[in-house]
Amino acid sequence: MPVVKLLIMSITEDFSTIVLAAGKGTRMKSPLPKVLHPVAGWPMISRSIHALNEAGTNNIRVVVGHGELLVRQVIEPLGASAFLQVEQLGTGHAVQCAEPHSLQGTVLIMNGDHPLIEAEDIKFLIKEFVNSQKKLAVVTAKVKKPGNFGRIVRHHNQLKAIVEAKDASHDTLKINEINTGMYLIEAEFLNQLLPQLKNNNSQKEFYLTDIISLAVEAGEQVGTLLTSAYVAFGVNSQLELATATKYVYRRKVKKLMESGVVILDPKNTYIEDDVIIGSGTIIYPGNFIRSGTKIGEMCIIEPHCFMYKTQIANSVHIKSHCYFEEVKISSKASIGPFARLRTGTKIGKDAKVGNFVEMKMVDFKNGAKASHLTYLGDAVIGEQTNIGCGTITCNYAVDKKKYVTKIGKDVFVGSDTQFVAPIEIGDGAIIASGSTITKNVPAGALAVARSRQIIKENYQHRSHTTKEEIEETEKSSDSKAEIEG
Ligand code: UD1
Ligand code: MG
Repeated sequence: MPVVKLLIMSITEDFSTIVLAAGKGTRMKSPLPKVLHPVAGWPMISRSIHALNEAGTNNIRVVVGHGELLVRQVIEPLGASAFLQVEQLGTGHAVQCAEPHSLQGTVLIMNGDHPLIEAEDIKFLIKEFVNSQKKLAVVTAKVKKPGNFGRIVRHHNQLKAIVEAKDASHDTLKINEINTGMYLIEAEFLNQLLPQLKNNNSQKEFYLTDIISLAVEAGEQVGTLLTSAYVAFGVNSQLELATATKYVYRRKVKKLMESGVVILDPKNTYIEDDVIIGSGTIIYPGNFIRSGTKIGEMCIIEPHCFMYKTQIANSVHIKSHCYFEEVKISSKASIGPFARLRTGTKIGKDAKVGNFVEMKMVDFKNGAKASHLTYLGDAVIGEQTNIGCGTITCNYAVDKKKYVTKIGKDVFVGSDTQFVAPIEIGDGAIIASGSTITKNVPAGALAVARSRQIIKENYQHRSHTTKEEIEETEKSSDSKAEIEG
């Protein structure tokens, strides 16, 4: 690319941003600050910040107020700085709190409650603004239901003012071109207009929207940049939050389908933005796939699974109703139905985890199997080992510490076995079903740790068995076991 063109690009993309996020969001009727309400898994405000960072903004100043500390926790790790607006006296006052005197060049002002905006939209608007050579432009949209949005009032097609719905006449309310709450303005001009704002309106607030009429009065031509309805979509109520959330999920599944993922029912599939899924993988309805998850190619994910920060390799079969948090599953494994795999669990290649199996911090090696009703916690299960139905690793001791169970490869664990950790089982060992294993078992050994069966012939026809008789039988059975053992 020629040097001159590169230089122009870097100049056009040079801009600072002020995001307004101090409002309470009264219409949300929720104790959570509005901008922290999640849209498809991410706090609303973090979506704007991600988009701004991707679009290449110089710096992001977020005006905070309600829930200041909570909002700071979300925005500061993303590289934005917080500016406190102690009293919410209106959007114009909010911008003043962001100390615009220390800014230079183009400033983008936007609301923190427009979560559908993407980096591409911002880049486009910045370029258009720079090309227009105006000092101020408002980003507008044409919508079917203008509702509570500020109306764009024109005279001979020239923008004259923004009138808030609450202050608008019957005729003004009919205008369907609305203010998105996004403005592009030269810093110097912004600092000239802000001190002139007054609060003589129905809300007794300093409206940022009034900078338009002030600019017009100062003899400036104010530009308008038309954007799409989704950029204009602001969230002020729970219903609008749900609409935004639905939109983001639909946008994600559409992108995945375009890349070859089979999604049987896009309306009922919930996949967060950063999730990666390989082509040829089939996603059944009702799946909830959260941030940090990566699924390989040619997998089958049956209905109603929940996954968070989960890595799934190629050709894995996940049967319905599974719950995974921070786990890794290798290729060709089969999991579920109804399996719960918890943090730190690794499932090897070709391994099988069946119904009602829970695992936590388990290294379940290649080809191992736990087909039914089992709890494995803090354990290593060797290759090709078979864990019988009802097995439990007793990892949590009375000292409130966790202990490890290590089971070698090719071990056969009979059903209804308990391993009292810490414990080690050697390769190829056999554990008799119903055992409670408290001592290490060497490789190749058989371990039986259960009481012996007692048979009393013709018992049904005896009218009474005395307590003494039962004790006598148990005693003789125990001494027989000791001799045999
Ligand atoms: C605002 C605009 C309206 C526009 C709409 C787009 C004004 C007066 N009105 O209305 O023209 O159509 O956005 O969504 O600007 N905030 C503060 N401090 C305050 C007040 C608000 O930081 O003192 C923040 C809020 O947290 C919010 C944003 O500014 O993120 C917009 O405030 P909100 O009350 O939602 O304004 P709208 O009524 O939506
Ligand atoms: Mg709003």
